[in-house]
Amino acid sequence: AFNLKNRHFLTLRDFTPREISFLLKLSADLKTAKYTGTEVPQLQGKDIALIFEKNSTRTRVGFEVAAFDQGARVTYLGPTGTHIGHKESVKDTARVLGRVYDAIEYRGFGQTIVEELAQYAGVPVYNGLTNEFHPTQILADFLTMQENVEKPLRDVAFVFIGDAANNMGDSLLIGGAKMGMDVRLCAPKACWPSEAIQKEAQSIASDTGARIMITEDIDAAMAGVDFVYTDVWVSMGEPKEKWAERIKLLQPYQVNAALMKKTGNPRTRFMHCLPAFHNTETTVGKEMQAEFGIDAMEVTDDVFESPASIVFDQAENRMHTIKAVLVATLGS
Ligand code: CP
Ligand code: NVA
Repeated sequence: AFNLKNRHFLTLRDFTPREISFLLKLSADLKTAKYTGTEVPQLQGKDIALIFEKNSTRTRVGFEVAAFDQGARVTYLGPTGTHIGHKESVKDTARVLGRVYDAIEYRGFGQTIVEELAQYAGVPVYNGLTNEFHPTQILADFLTMQENVEKPLRDVAFVFIGDAANNMGDSLLIGGAKMGMDVRLCAPKACWPSEAIQKEAQSIASDTGARIMITEDIDAAMAGVDFVYTDVWVSMGEPKEKWAERIKLLQPYQVNAALMKKTGNPRTRFMHCLPAFHNTETTVGKEMQAEFGIDAMEVTDDVFESPASIVFDQAENRMHTIKAVLVATLGS
């Protein structure tokens, strides 16, 4: 059996493939238990602090509902209203929250911040998204993949296309390498992950048998894949003056009907961590389309709304997989 009690959850690089598989199995079991009304609360009396230095819909509701379902209590500490990082150092905040809470979630900026929290809190710390990694998202994505193909993850091929230099590119690359998958990142060279992350993924792959392709060649990257995954093109604080240039660079990598056809696989599914730009129904979407046109969006509305799209399964699975992390690290 696996014992993940009191472990931090900062990146998937800290977990073995068997530990990740265990978390996915636990997620699926907890999902079934919730649906059949047989869930057994294992977090009664636990208090969890949720630090969000950036906004969130899925990650926040995932942590809150997962905690409530399991009998725990949460405190939401939003982007304003606390002293974190402004009037009080991360190190001091970690020691204060560690005295009051049984675990801490952090969403914000540098990975070094969540690592510093983990170093000083004395309780498990969970990464709810940093500039570098989004590991709870990857668990949800892998659970969703498993629900959609009848083969083990190591036989699954997916492409992450678009801006592969962001937290999703890094996390999917490391996660896919860990699980021994056929991992493809397809992006203009300027949007590839750092050399260090690429090297790390290659070295993990040499242990797990993962196949890794990082390329600008769209046809090669798309061929035969089970899943096409993308993320927004502008999400890491890129200044507005740079948007036009980025959009032009990334435009050939837009997920549209013609691109989906390139897989040659009629069962290919479309994935996105969300939020997505695929229409003008948001303020930012409106602005982007007014300024840059329809091709400013990473995915077209027809693909996003198509039967191949499993984006809301991913969103739901955030909650079940976060619950597995809480139960495994904190449960009785
Ligand atoms: N996918 C994701 O992390 O969404 P939120 O920003 O809404 O939490
Ligand atoms: N790259 C996006 C991912 C959101 C889940 C961001 O950092 O906002």
